[in-house]
Amino acid sequence: MVRTAYVVTAAVIITALVVGGGAWYFLSPAPPADVLEIYHWWTSGGEKAAIDALVDVFIDEYPDTAVIQSPVAGGAGYVMKAVMKSLVLAGEAPDAFQMHAGYEGKPYFDAGYLEAISDLWEEEEWEDAFPEVVRDMVNFEGEYYAVPVNIHRPNVVWYNKPLLDAKGIDPTTLTTWDKFFDACETLRGPQGPPLEYPIALGDVGKWTDTHVLEQIIAGEGIDFYEDWINGEVTSATNTKLLSALETFKTYLGYVNTDHSALTWDEAIKRVITGDAAFSVMGDWANGEFYVANKVYGTDYGTFPTPGTSGMYGLVIDCFQHPKGVKHPENSLNWLRVVGSKEGQDTFNPIKGSIAARLDADETKYGAYQKAAIADFKAATYLYPSVAHGSGAPEAFAAELDDIMSAFVTNKDVSAAAAALTDATTDASDDYTIVWSLD
Ligand code: GAL
Repeated sequence: MVRTAYVVTAAVIITALVVGGGAWYFLSPAPPADVLEIYHWWTSGGEKAAIDALVDVFIDEYPDTAVIQSPVAGGAGYVMKAVMKSLVLAGEAPDAFQMHAGYEGKPYFDAGYLEAISDLWEEEEWEDAFPEVVRDMVNFEGEYYAVPVNIHRPNVVWYNKPLLDAKGIDPTTLTTWDKFFDACETLRGPQGPPLEYPIALGDVGKWTDTHVLEQIIAGEGIDFYEDWINGEVTSATNTKLLSALETFKTYLGYVNTDHSALTWDEAIKRVITGDAAFSVMGDWANGEFYVANKVYGTDYGTFPTPGTSGMYGLVIDCFQHPKGVKHPENSLNWLRVVGSKEGQDTFNPIKGSIAARLDADETKYGAYQKAAIADFKAATYLYPSVAHGSGAPEAFAAELDDIMSAFVTNKDVSAAAAALTDATTDASDDYTIVWSLD
């Protein structure tokens, strides 16, 4: 006789059969389903395809665990970061959530919300698998607290190849901002279809403004960038800071006027469709070209943001093991997959990033990423991104987005320089990491 049918797992059914002497009835309600809940902000076409593929690797490995993805839309986590803070504070941390390596995890670490996972690192032999620069960014006071899934490069200009070809522009020559702005003038010019706004920007969420400034600052030289992230650029008359802001101002003269209504991926779509020639964006943009079936080298191409050839910015996504999660074992299993070779070589080819691991199977990566892997290996300087949480304290980074968003509207160089240096001074106690980039 069938009384109540709570179908859970094979193990529960077998137990019920044994207890019931072969009869199909269940004496007690089934235990709650075995669940893993993760939060992330990967909601654009390319981002979603990548995280779904990573979740599939997990499901193959742990078929009895149901995965609940809780995506919070908003590039660079500009919405999710706040959501996550309230959840963690309320004791409702999910089993794992997307977070950038470096400073972004510090407030959680300082407040005691993260579990050390050095044992897991040892068990999985990750010390040998990840480069030192990456390891250091997920290690606080000698213990590991997170697992990196990728390395994204932020200092990339994406271009529409047919548009540049039509105007006779050779992208390999665009190595300085002056040459880049000359190319923008050419794109505007009479020969071929005129493009009034050659650069696509979508600054919904403000972070893309910071993103562009950051790459311009990197182009001012690694020493200046290092000073900036170490909190040492405190004078509003600093010539390199002023020069970076002037460059950004010129850049804005070539940007679409509806930028505040576009998200980052909508801006990339304009390059895909040929409504714009250029966009400065991290290489998650490659995921958008990928889902649009565009071919690298034929439809689109890339070059390092002017002044940063030989430099590789670091945007590193990771997951952690928050304290007191509902499904601790599943949380650790998720981290195992995140840090695994198979997980990384499944996720990153779609995402646009390169693996954080050193042993990636390069044959699985497309043409852009093969070049990125080579650039990473050959890079003279690596620099952690501020726009993406790693390089500078949160107190400064949060201000930065507002300052840059105001700048994009008022284009007031000295006001922005004053606001930036004030923000650095205000956050001076929080600069606890001393970066050494050369
Ligand atoms: C970055 C993140 C990337 C990508 C991007 C746009 O902060 O590291 O993985 O998703 O935001 O959302």
